[in-house]
Amino acid sequence: MGVSPGLRVHEARVRSCEPCARDTMRLVIESGELAASILPGQFMQIAVPGDGSHILRIPLSFSRANGDGSIELIFAVVGEGTERLACVEAGAMLSVVGPCGQGWELPDADGRCLLVAGGVGLPPIVAACEMLYAAGRGCDVVIGARTAELLVRDEVEALRSIAGVKIATDDGSEGHAGFVTDVMQSLIDEGPYAQAYSCGPTPMMAGVAKIAGEAGIACQVSLERLMGCGFGVCNCCNVELATGGYASCCTDGPVFDAREVAW
Ligand SMILES: Cc1cc2nc3c(=O)[nH]c(=O)nc-3n(C[C@H](O)[C@H](O)[C@H](O)COP(=O)(O)OP(=O)(O)OC[C@H]3O[C@@H](n4cnc5c(N)ncnc54)[C@H](O)[C@@H]3O)c2cc1C
Ligand code: FES
Repeated sequence: MGVSPGLRVHEARVRSCEPCARDTMRLVIESGELAASILPGQFMQIAVPGDGSHILRIPLSFSRANGDGSIELIFAVVGEGTERLACVEAGAMLSVVGPCGQGWELPDADGRCLLVAGGVGLPPIVAACEMLYAAGRGCDVVIGARTAELLVRDEVEALRSIAGVKIATDDGSEGHAGFVTDVMQSLIDEGPYAQAYSCGPTPMMAGVAKIAGEAGIACQVSLERLMGCGFGVCNCCNVELATGGYASCCTDGPVFDAREVAW
C-alpha cells in the first residue's frame, strides 16, 4: 500500500510522562503537524532518548490526537527501550516518525460496533471508539487485562462516557473472571453488531476473529510485529495472509481485515 501521506520526522515536545497503571505509562507529546495528520489506528516510531546505537525506534499507537497539538500515548514498560522512554521529562524533545501505516475504517453496515481490547492494545481501541462516537455510531467495548492493577482507570472511565464498557480479568480481580472473548461471545449472543474492532495479544485477536467470523460480523484487527523502519523498507514485519503470501504490517497495516490474516 505504500507509506502514508505526510509521513516524516517530527520533533515533538514531551508535555508529560506519568504512570497510569502498574508498569504502564501515559506519554503526552506535542506536535501540531503530527496531531493534525495522524488518523485513528495509525502509529508512530519514537526514537528513545540516550545511546541509539543498539536500539530501534519504538512503534506506538496513540489514543487521542487533540486540537491543541497534543497526542496521548499509553505504553507498557517491557524492555530497555520502553524503560528509557518512561524516564523522559516534561520539556524533553523526541524524534517521532509518523503518521505510519493504515488506520481503522468506519463500518460499511449500519448498527452498533463491538470493540475488544487486551492489555496495551487499549490505545488504538480508544481511538477507534472516539472515531465511531464522532460518526454517531454506538459502541460496546470489552477491555481485558491479566489483573485489575493493569487497567488504565481514567481511560476506562472516559470510555464509559461514550460507550458500554465491560471488563474481564484473567485472575477475576475485576469484572468477568476469564477471557475477553467469553464476554464478546455473550454480547454477540444478545444483540446484532455491524462490525468488530480488536487490538491485543495475537492469540486473543485470533479468538476475536474466529467469533466474529462465525457470527458473520466484519472484523478489523490491529496487529503487532517487531518493526525496524516502520515505513516499508526493512522487510521485517511480515504478516502471513490467508490467501498465501505476505503483507507488511507497517505499510499495509497495522489494521487488517481479520479475514485476510493467516491466524
Ligand atoms: C504498530 C504497533 C503499535 C504498538 N503500540 C503500542 C502501544 O500503544 N502501547 C504499547 O505498550 N506497546 C505498543 N506496541 C509494542 C511496543 O512497540 C513494544 O512493546 C516496544 O517496542 C518494546 O520495546 P522495548 O525496547 O522496551 O522492549 P524489547 O527489549 O525490544 O522487548 C521486550 C519484549 O517485548 C516484545 N516486543 C518488542 N517489540 C515488540 C513489538 N513491536 N510488538 C510486540 N512485541 C514486541 C519483545 O519480543 C520482548 O518480549 C506496538 C507495536 C506495534 C508494532
Ligand atoms: S518495519 Fe520495516 S518494512 Fe515494516
